[in-house]
Amino acid sequence: MRGPLPFLLVLPFDTSLLEQESCLSGKLLGNYRDGSSIKSVMITDEECISSWTAQTESSSAFFAPAIQGFRQLVWVAEEAVDDSLKLLAPQDEFTQFLERLSSPPQGEETFLDSQQDIFIETYQHSDYEVLYQTPTAALLSVNSRVALHLDEVLPRFWKSIPVPSFPIEFIPVPPSSIEPVKSVLESLAYNSAVSAVVDSISIPQMKNDVRFLTGEDGQSGILSRHSFSQGSRIAAAWLKQRFEETGATCRLMLFMQGFAPNVICRYESIVNTTGTVIISGHYDSRGSFGSTRMPGGDDDGSGTTAVLGIARAIARNGVKFHQNVELVAFAGEEQGLYGSRAYANQLRSLDANVTLMVQADMLAYRKPGEPMQLGLPKSIGTPEVAQLVANISSLYSPELEVGFTPACCSDHQSFYEQGYASTQVFERAGPIADPMYHNSGDLSDREGFDFDQLKAIAKVQFATILHYAGFELHK
Ligand SMILES: *[C@@H]1O[C@H](CO)[C@@H](O)[C@H](O)[C@H]1NC(C)=O
Ligand SMILES: *[C@@H]1O[C@H](CO)[C@@H](O)[C@H](O)[C@H]1NC(C)=O
Ligand SMILES: *[C@@H]1O[C@H](CO)[C@@H](O)[C@H](O)[C@H]1NC(C)=O
Ligand SMILES: [Zn+2]
Repeated sequence: MRGPLPFLLVLPFDTSLLEQESCLSGKLLGNYRDGSSIKSVMITDEECISSWTAQTESSSAFFAPAIQGFRQLVWVAEEAVDDSLKLLAPQDEFTQFLERLSSPPQGEETFLDSQQDIFIETYQHSDYEVLYQTPTAALLSVNSRVALHLDEVLPRFWKSIPVPSFPIEFIPVPPSSIEPVKSVLESLAYNSAVSAVVDSISIPQMKNDVRFLTGEDGQSGILSRHSFSQGSRIAAAWLKQRFEETGATCRLMLFMQGFAPNVICRYESIVNTTGTVIISGHYDSRGSFGSTRMPGGDDDGSGTTAVLGIARAIARNGVKFHQNVELVAFAGEEQGLYGSRAYANQLRSLDANVTLMVQADMLAYRKPGEPMQLGLPKSIGTPEVAQLVANISSLYSPELEVGFTPACCSDHQSFYEQGYASTQVFERAGPIADPMYHNSGDLSDREGFDFDQLKAIAKVQFATILHYAGFELHK
């Protein structure tokens, strides 16, 4: 006889659910965005659900009927975008998405990459099932092929995240990781050496770098940096070389078949410590539905270029750190943080001493008429790290107006969920306003793509590692 049938449960995120006394403790599959709130997906049995409902008044819970042998679970949700960008109500977007999934147009074999023969197969309705739905999010059960290609058929402003089939250990960031952040914040003071070093990030160089990544330079041959494309391989090899030229030791981390690798580069500490600070961006991209051109200039050519600009400034100034510093360009972000998940999980399993992680995702777009801004995540991330970044911003990039953004859930989420102190830097203290977001027109040469803002935010990311890790200049 089999054990009790599993039930899926979706309910508002609440840490008390995860506490020991609750029968839901240890049953968490993940926390995901839904509009302005966070929902927890749990897997449990009927007995737990009945005892739990008996002692709660919550009417917002949802139970999937007993699901036997469901396939890959995916959470899809509308991202935080400015109302001015939305043409359709989220529900209509979702309906169209389901139509695309069940009855794709003729000739749906969209070749992304003729060399690798990867294409979207005609989806049958049996390829997916909608288990749970709100106006701004849904939980789907899909076959693995659909799971990997969802980002190509999703509405532009929606994002998919794979949901594991076994409970995850949700590791809160321990106080011992927050203490050092607080202490750096408390003793924070303007440092003229930091200022000179971060100022040396070069805008002309960043212009060239981002134009290589988008293919706008006409030399790189990159049409797309979608994780499955040939262009993403060109970008990975190029990034590795550029980082190595700055004195870093790099490796390409293959994390899943078919995906471009993470590019992981490291500067060893000059003092004896296991402490490691990570700054990162994601170099994979998305384009418009049905188009093979995916330049990803802002998303996330800008963050990748910032990290590369920082590497170049490290070399130019002979910076040596007092903690190990890793610069990472992730792949697989658009399919659901695959690359960063793999790396964060690997680091956790090695019990790596990652002391801080700051992800740069979308730094360059400034809505005409708005001031330069820096957005920090409202919901996913370590508040103390966001505070440190905010205060560092006021020292070295006072022109940035700092605030919170509901846009969330880039690669720092993978580290946050493994108990590592982390945050993200973003281009706006509000929802996404870039009209070319997830569009094949996301080039660097266009109105609103602001290299001054890109540099101002890169300076903050750089100054954060200088202050947090400690450094010397060997020049
Ligand atoms: C950080 O900045 C805020 C706002 O400017 C300020 O009130 C606070 O004192 C600063 N924190 C520290 C520890 O310097
Ligand atoms: C570095 O520190 C560790 C732990 O304190 C110690 O075991 C090791 O010998 C040290 N290595 C060097 C090169 O000093
Ligand atoms: C982690 O690195 C930090 C910074 O160098 C250090 O203070 C701390 O002792 C390290 N923690 C462990 C467990 O080694
Ligand atoms: Zn992004």
